[in-house]
Amino acid sequence: MIRKYSIGRPIETGSVVSKFPLSEGTPKGLTLQEGSTFVISLSDTAVVYGLGETVRGINKRGWKYISNCSDDPNHTESKNSLYAAHNFVLILDKEEATGYYFDTPEKVIFDIGYTRLDQMAVTLTKGDAYIYEITADITGMNTMAGAEDSSPRRVVRQFRQMIGRSYIPPLWAFGYGQSRWGYRCRKDIENVIAGYEEADIPLDSVYMDIDYMERYKDFTVDEEKFPQFGEFVSEVKKKNIHLVPIIDAGVKIEEGYDVYEEGVRDGHFCKKEDGKELVAAVWPGRVHFPDFFQEKTRKWFGEKYDVLLKQGIDGFWNDMNEPAIFYTEEGLTEAFSRIKEYEGKNLDIQSFFDFQSVVGSLNNNPKDYARFYHNYEGQKIRHDKVHNLYGYLMTRAAGEAFRRLSPDKRILLFSRSSYIGMHRYGGVWTGDNQSWWSHMLLNIQQLPGLNMCGFLFSGADTGGFGADCTEDIVLRWLAVSLYTPLFRNHAALGTRDQELYRFVHKDWMRGLIRLRYALIPYLYSEFMKAAFRDDLYIQPLSFVYTEDERARNVEDQLLVGESIMIAPVYTQNATGRMVYLPEEMKMLRFAGDSLVEESVLAKGDHYIPVSLKEAVMFLRPGHALPLAKPAKTTAELDLDHLTYLTFNARPEDYELYRDDGITPVKE
Ligand code: GLC
Repeated sequence: MIRKYSIGRPIETGSVVSKFPLSEGTPKGLTLQEGSTFVISLSDTAVVYGLGETVRGINKRGWKYISNCSDDPNHTESKNSLYAAHNFVLILDKEEATGYYFDTPEKVIFDIGYTRLDQMAVTLTKGDAYIYEITADITGMNTMAGAEDSSPRRVVRQFRQMIGRSYIPPLWAFGYGQSRWGYRCRKDIENVIAGYEEADIPLDSVYMDIDYMERYKDFTVDEEKFPQFGEFVSEVKKKNIHLVPIIDAGVKIEEGYDVYEEGVRDGHFCKKEDGKELVAAVWPGRVHFPDFFQEKTRKWFGEKYDVLLKQGIDGFWNDMNEPAIFYTEEGLTEAFSRIKEYEGKNLDIQSFFDFQSVVGSLNNNPKDYARFYHNYEGQKIRHDKVHNLYGYLMTRAAGEAFRRLSPDKRILLFSRSSYIGMHRYGGVWTGDNQSWWSHMLLNIQQLPGLNMCGFLFSGADTGGFGADCTEDIVLRWLAVSLYTPLFRNHAALGTRDQELYRFVHKDWMRGLIRLRYALIPYLYSEFMKAAFRDDLYIQPLSFVYTEDERARNVEDQLLVGESIMIAPVYTQNATGRMVYLPEEMKMLRFAGDSLVEESVLAKGDHYIPVSLKEAVMFLRPGHALPLAKPAKTTAELDLDHLTYLTFNARPEDYELYRDDGITPVKE
């Protein structure tokens, strides 16, 4: 049962696709306190899930989270905001679940047991929102056929149904992808492909970071570094490998650059109070930001992707779309004049820190987000009031355009910044993590929340983006990303090489990647079923084992699809780990793609040794796991001949989903 409430004067975000009548007053389960703070008490046993891409655990209790899309590459547990605003929470108390969705572009503060351990307080900073209260009662709903049932899953499925079906990428997007900021030219990319070929490691995609563009201009390709680009794309395609370029939100200001000139001419860029375009800076230096709130601008910008589609490109990642701002013209002028004030002075403790912050606070400064406006359905709205929608609307521009430009072929699309609603147009990657073990755990813990919020197609920079990786972190991270729909190794400029063929134990890495390819029929089936049924592809244990108190406390094991539970090793130098089995399960131990052990383990705690080259998963009773023979690319997988691993089940019990992996799925 879903009840919709309206508080203040909410802005329509487009995130909800179903219509609901408005209920009177405020949500029954929440108490309205001073201002716009909604409070609910939490019993000792209650677990709070959701919030999608945030810091900290699967259970969100014990911290303060702020929905404020932020370009911040330091995802430490002290942070309150990451790149996304996913305002859905689900409270599971004993076996009863209730969900709340706060649909508003403003900053929302989720104080979940931070100020008071026994209470969740949600503050709307401006006081305008639609609030949806979702209970597990599903009388009258008809979308649940075939899906396993529990109170939290009923809540999630209703929520997901109301926000619309999750984005479905092409099958090849489930293959392994290699990325790096710093592939400067065609030769660099050819070397990567050759490196994978020589090492005989499967590969479906190579990502092109900002280096491919001409002076960081969107929708251009540097002719010198990437001569005959279209030909290059099709040569690579002959090997069944897809090139996936990045697109940034800022459009370079440069005379003669068509995107810039058209944008100015046709009023597509965000303007300041005085009616002039905002001048901000990102990679190319000075840029304008497209006003994605205008339908005409979404259409215009979306059509621009066609330049690359026409050259054979069929996948994109949208970046810097919080939007990230290095500085604005006004901010820079102010900073320079302030710096002069300090010249020749004795800088004591406070003035020294102030001086430092003059430059330190230039980027992503809240003052800059209040300097420009959007034209949204005839209304002029200051950016900071709708900040959280910007990345979503950029990706919506692309997603809507692909439906027109590529009606017969699915296009891979994912974004850094997002808001719920964007999940219909693309997936997300979780941004600039580091090659830290704690970030591997964070990756594991973000996945269930992302799934609840509709972002089924998601994954982290495998191996870690910032900082130097080590061989063991790459191996262990492969054994996590093995299960995430987006499986991309990405690293920052200047960090240690992270392509798998560069490591001593590349044969172990090959084994793990081959295992991924063996699992694709299963992963793809589970993904598609979750998308069609508004269900979860990855979920916490407690969503199935609702009565099991221990399961509610598990923060580092997940259920992936209907058949398996995973328990990755995420600590350095560990040779194994404790695993909690909520019921009897069959342990499947793979050394690379070879099954080396199958043993039935009783419900309870087990120490499971897992070497660096292994992946261990647990098959649930009454379930089966289809496996393909690994291949070099997803295109070469033989999906007609699968083998099944079973536990008290027959292969026929498994509901395999197959399609051609490329034709867009009807809405
Ligand atoms: C941002 C992205 C990162 C990319 C870099 C350069 O930091 O998050 O993935 O490599 O920009 O484009």
